[in-house]
Amino acid sequence: MIGLIDRLSRPLLRALDPEDAHALAIKALRYMPLAKAAADADELAVRAFGLKFPNPVGLAAGFDKNAQVPDALLRLGFGFVEVGTITPRPQAGNPKPRLFRLDADHGVINRLGFNNDGAAVVHMRLARRRNAGGIVGVNIGANRDSTDRIEDYVRLIETFAAVASYFTVNVSSPNTPGLRELQQAKALDELLARVLDAREQVRARAGLTPVLLKIAPDLTLADLDDVVGVARRRRVDGMIVGNTTIARPGSLREGEMAREQGGLSGRPVFSLSTRVLAETFVRAENAFPLIGAGGIDSGATAIAKIKAGATLLQLYTGLVFRGIGLVTEIKDDLTAALKRGYRNSLASMIGSDAAAITADSWPA
Ligand SMILES: Cc1cc2nc3c(=O)[nH]c(=O)nc-3n(C[C@H](O)[C@H](O)[C@H](O)COP(=O)(O)O)c2cc1C
Repeated sequence: MIGLIDRLSRPLLRALDPEDAHALAIKALRYMPLAKAAADADELAVRAFGLKFPNPVGLAAGFDKNAQVPDALLRLGFGFVEVGTITPRPQAGNPKPRLFRLDADHGVINRLGFNNDGAAVVHMRLARRRNAGGIVGVNIGANRDSTDRIEDYVRLIETFAAVASYFTVNVSSPNTPGLRELQQAKALDELLARVLDAREQVRARAGLTPVLLKIAPDLTLADLDDVVGVARRRRVDGMIVGNTTIARPGSLREGEMAREQGGLSGRPVFSLSTRVLAETFVRAENAFPLIGAGGIDSGATAIAKIKAGATLLQLYTGLVFRGIGLVTEIKDDLTAALKRGYRNSLASMIGSDAAAITADSWPA
């Protein structure tokens, strides 16, 4: 049923302004009665950060920014859902238009700028579903006009620790001026020290919530040395590689649209983010697991991410072009690949191509 509605509604959604289409999709998920997805095959289960994921296919941050529909999304078959980015105070984001579809490239450019309902409202929603089960991570960021950005992250950890399955510290959005400077070694070290200290402070009442760091695919390898070094020394629980890119690959066909400012996602960011994932994997040396994101839109691209070093996956833009059936397609392709080899274990696939990828020439 959902597949049929999905097939029928996609041309309609595509005809709409992208932001209106997104609002309509959220509304449909809120009101449509959804049966629970079929149980996942045992071999798709993943243990990471002390959590057990029924399957490795997650929804990336930015789709359900305000935690309006995490349970509907879990019922559609995602192994986990990340809500946010949430900032302490609500904010409107950048002026519209600020979301652009590059149809010929299967890409999206967004400069939304952390539009969200703010911590109080989102916390209320998550507290209401607290006992519903399922893995719902909370992606946190700083208000654009904040005078103390690190303090924003600390407050969000305190607010959400009891209702978040895990946290993602987002220092990689290109749409909040200066935010990505928090990826520089000294600033990142201070940020992580204070975030992890805040987590420790609330541990007695909230438990030990895993903290992941989400980076941009635009870091240089020298920057990446620093970032992974700091993440390891501070003992973060994992990293997400990565966010949207400010780069514009020469291969883009939607030339005019490509000039829009903002972060590019989808198929055009696949090669770069997969390379940076592999580079992160060889630097992390299994100190923590990685989530691979950027351009996953098929079983083959999902498998490529795992072989580059991802223990778990996240996608967003692929849904825009392929529809919700993509999630089941990826899970089926993973199960089939496991049956063909890899001792029927996802774990043996993780990072198997990382060394080869990092030896290759840099993606154009
Ligand atoms: C419209 C849109 C909004 C996004 N908003 C956020 C966000 O609020 N926080 C964040 O960490 N990433 C955000 N992202 C980035 C995604 O989570 C993901 O890292 C990136 O799009 C690469 O994956 P994809 O190619 O599958 O979309 C957003 C992406 C898109 C397309």
